[in-house]
Amino acid sequence: MDQNQDKLKDIISHSKEYGFIFPSSEIYDGLAATYDYGQLGSELKNNIKTYWWKAMVQMHENIVGIDASIFMHPTTWKASGHVDAFNDPLIDNKDSKKRYRADVLLEEHMEKIRQKIEKEVEKGKNRFGTDFDETQFRATNPNVLRNLEKIESIEGRMREALENNDLEAVRNLIIDLEIVCPVSGSKNWTEVRQFNLMFSTELGSVAGDASTIYLRPETAQGIFVNFLNVQKSGRMKIPFGIAQIGKAFRNEIVARQFIFRMREFEQMEMQFFVRPGEEMTWYTYWKEAREKWHKNLGLGGNLYRFHDHIKLAHYANAACDIEYNFPMGFKELEGIHSRTDFDLKQHEQFSGKKLQFFDPELNQSYVPYVVETSVGLDRMFLSVLSAAYQNEKLEDGSERVVLRIPPVLAPYKAAVLPLVKKDGLPEKARELMKSLQFDYSIQYDEKDSIGKRYRRQDAIGTPFSITIDHQTLTDDTVTVRDRDTMEQIRVSIKELEGLLAEKASWKSVLSTL
Ligand code: GAP
Repeated sequence: MDQNQDKLKDIISHSKEYGFIFPSSEIYDGLAATYDYGQLGSELKNNIKTYWWKAMVQMHENIVGIDASIFMHPTTWKASGHVDAFNDPLIDNKDSKKRYRADVLLEEHMEKIRQKIEKEVEKGKNRFGTDFDETQFRATNPNVLRNLEKIESIEGRMREALENNDLEAVRNLIIDLEIVCPVSGSKNWTEVRQFNLMFSTELGSVAGDASTIYLRPETAQGIFVNFLNVQKSGRMKIPFGIAQIGKAFRNEIVARQFIFRMREFEQMEMQFFVRPGEEMTWYTYWKEAREKWHKNLGLGGNLYRFHDHIKLAHYANAACDIEYNFPMGFKELEGIHSRTDFDLKQHEQFSGKKLQFFDPELNQSYVPYVVETSVGLDRMFLSVLSAAYQNEKLEDGSERVVLRIPPVLAPYKAAVLPLVKKDGLPEKARELMKSLQFDYSIQYDEKDSIGKRYRRQDAIGTPFSITIDHQTLTDDTVTVRDRDTMEQIRVSIKELEGLLAEKASWKSVLSTL
């Protein structure tokens, strides 16, 4: 097993041990690809939602938020194209009986070639040292060029096959590239078939087509059908955005890699309505804004990259992903899509209602174009956890597991720890906790030695541990231990609010956006 898979395994068991994420209905042996967020996981998840909501809604005067229902009129999904086109191309390996997304097999094959290129560049760096000119090396090295050519050729064939819905061509590409099943190692593949990803259920007690409804596969449609409601009731002027956080459901055939791909997950989506013809300007704007939002967390700028879509979804005229370097490699974290006027026009046609905006400056009505930003909350959670999780060797030879979660996102901002369980220290500690609790989530802990308590706070990602000792009773000072540096400083209780505000308040992170 490689190091990265080991890391994912460590994160999964750490998440369970400390109450971040549990397998769903575990007492019945769980249900594949479904997870429950525990007491600390819900705090972290809520903080990620708040960071998104505040950055998108609170900090933009022209973006408002809604909370639409999961069930929608079934015609919504006919109009949106999901009934006919929300499919994955699937292929089975006859020996292992495992099922794969054909496009993902191809993407993974190309990623392996990309990794070869990076290895070649690394070798060049080591060989030439300080004289190394990376740009020139990439443009001239025969091995790099040959591999780039391979990728371009695969991308070209894949795009053409997917765009033409030519499933035989997709299969031929897999055969030609000699892609093997990761489980059986064989090339014994079935045909490629399309599979619709929507879950359906019956409304009420009557069976039949008329009562079939779907669990929404994206939150976006709840925004489109409310476009006019929000525009009129909120007196919104174009350009403006509608944001939403909520559950989405997809019958993913290959659901795996912990919370990366689940059948029930949460999305944070924003549809930005713009004048026709201005969508590319806004597409670029939102690409930059969203990249900034991610990097602003300080997890590491090199963990993100953009990936333009090879096959555009049925509604888009431009689309890209912000990919994140998860323990399994670079994978999609957020999608940014220029959705044109496709959705609103379709809803106009299927509902017979006008979904237009009268633009007073242009003195005309039109169906707005839409630029969408869509980030998976669970993937965001995994990205934070995988950057934060570190197993450190300390100077004294001991080890510690520390979650370097950005302070604003940490489940607890501080722990209040009375040095001993007597002499009035617990009372003083509780009093301090109560005064800080209005603005910050604080944990109280008096069990075990102070060293053990520090380790526990490291393991759950609490940025500050505040220790109350006998001196506190005489001069109102406390020891503050920093999770990341493990340094301790003595400060007066009066200074604590300022310290937390500087490092862990919403302002501290939103002001640098
Ligand atoms: N409204 C557009 C839309 O839904 P998408 O690229 O299919 O676009 C957006 O999904 C985001 O939702 C993805 O970037 C990913 O973060 C998240 N997502 C999609 N499917 C998921 C799944 N099965 N499990 C977890 N997150 C998922």
